[in-house]
Amino acid sequence: MTRALSFIQPTGDVHLGNFLGALNQWTLGQHDVDGFYGVCDLHALTVTDTPSVIGQNTVKLAAILFAIGLDPDVSTVFVQSHVPEHAQLGWVMECIVSFGELSRMTQFKDKSAKREGEFIAAGLFTYPALMAADILLYDANEVPVGDDQRQHIEITRDIAIRFNSRFGDTFVVPKAVMPKTGARVMDLQDPTSKMSKSAATDNGLIYMLDDPTTILKKFKRAVTDSDSEVRYDRENKPGISNLLEIQAAATGRSPEDIAAGYTQYGPLKVDTGEAVIELLRPIQARYNELMTDRAQLSALLRSGAAKARATAAATLERAYNNIGFLPL
Ligand code: AMP
Ligand code: TRP
Repeated sequence: MTRALSFIQPTGDVHLGNFLGALNQWTLGQHDVDGFYGVCDLHALTVTDTPSVIGQNTVKLAAILFAIGLDPDVSTVFVQSHVPEHAQLGWVMECIVSFGELSRMTQFKDKSAKREGEFIAAGLFTYPALMAADILLYDANEVPVGDDQRQHIEITRDIAIRFNSRFGDTFVVPKAVMPKTGARVMDLQDPTSKMSKSAATDNGLIYMLDDPTTILKKFKRAVTDSDSEVRYDRENKPGISNLLEIQAAATGRSPEDIAAGYTQYGPLKVDTGEAVIELLRPIQARYNELMTDRAQLSALLRSGAAKARATAAATLERAYNNIGFLPL
């Protein structure tokens, strides 16, 4: 059976881009794959320096993962720091990737530029090595992610191929999988930038826990394009195309098909907002319920970590043996 693995960082609140680009694929595909999905708190440490924040965000994010429908009897849902093999293989990966390769990562360039004058952790630079460890530990064939992770999956493939040729066949070489629509959800106020937790303002972001009034207001205020034609054309009509894509991803239709139903921007904005509200309504209800029972959440994460660890420990041992570390 195909093995799938993907993580999301517990930094800031989860937004519609995260959901349509990544999380929704995890649930929709969970019965067709052997899936491992998690909260990568070790990655969040690259940009977090306040005590307890990561832990609190991790609980909330785990609740979101169950609320979107990940079934603990079907998928393995866990927290990265609960499985120590991630940090262990992460170091090995740092020795398989080169300084030059890491220097070409656009996410590092963007994030370090945004932190100019602030503390820039070395971990922000070596981040892709830990991400490669996350994926390779589970022999994952597929990594369901949004478009912004393409380069990180490419470097993971390069690392796996290099390790295998240096130390013998050890790792499965994974590939990225992306949804047909929603792989790159754009900011509603600036449709040429992706919707991102690190945007300057919240006005163009839809958070998964936003209430219906806020969601509708943000869609009504969405920046559109100068002419008034409703047409799916990402290059020349980024604002309208973003709305069409969001509605398409939320309803399972195609953006072209949806565009054919409109002659004006106003109704498109309102209907897209309504579609998103309906998509998020049951998730928000389940989230609120799950958050009232922290003991149950902890128990679910403990059993997820135990399942994940069984696989991760076996792969780490295989990697150590193939490297030829002196056995204990
Ligand atoms: P992060 O919040 O950076 O941990 O991202 C978690 C997942 O959401 C990753 O698979 C990203 O590729 C995906 N993602 C983040 N922003 C967007 C976006 N604007 N559109 C689509 N996918 C996104
Ligand atoms: N780098 C990913 C992001 O910023 C998060 C991540 C960490 C991840 N490890 C992973 C995604 C392994 C997929 C697989 O969104």
